[in-house]
Amino acid sequence: MSGNRTFTMIKPDAVENNYIGGILKMINEAGFRIKAMKFTRLTKEAAGAFYAVHKERPFYGELVEYMSGGPIVAAILEKDNAVEDFRKLIGATNPEEAEEGTIRKIYAKSIAANAVHGSDSDENAEIEGSFFFSQLERF
Ligand code: CMP
Repeated sequence: MSGNRTFTMIKPDAVENNYIGGILKMINEAGFRIKAMKFTRLTKEAAGAFYAVHKERPFYGELVEYMSGGPIVAAILEKDNAVEDFRKLIGATNPEEAEEGTIRKIYAKSIAANAVHGSDSDENAEIEGSFFFSQLERF
């Protein structure tokens, strides 16, 4: 059975462009409830740790630089079938391949500056939510 929570970040490009409100509106209108949320900024070390699964990828250095380059919004979202439904809402990683009406199609600039992150599994949703929020904040 699929879980009912996922984790998202509104990335530095979207925060810089004042898209927080528009993106949260799309998230709420798609039926997700916000269970925890914070406006914060990742250090290089923290961005490196968050994306450690991509350490061997050629874009890892760029990703860490980019994600630590400005503030982000981190949030835990709740909805039935959260991980899969949220990935549909945000669209493909590369905005050029994202479907019309998805968050990345509307707000993303490039594959690196792609406006939002969404967990790719229930297990990672739990790991990523725990990275930003204490147990108390995750109830
Ligand atoms: P995200 O869903 O946050 O997970 C990993 C991120 O790596 C991804 O979104 C992209 O922003 C980034 N990424 C993936 N592929 C590339 C690439 N080829 N070049 C630069 N960044 C990438």
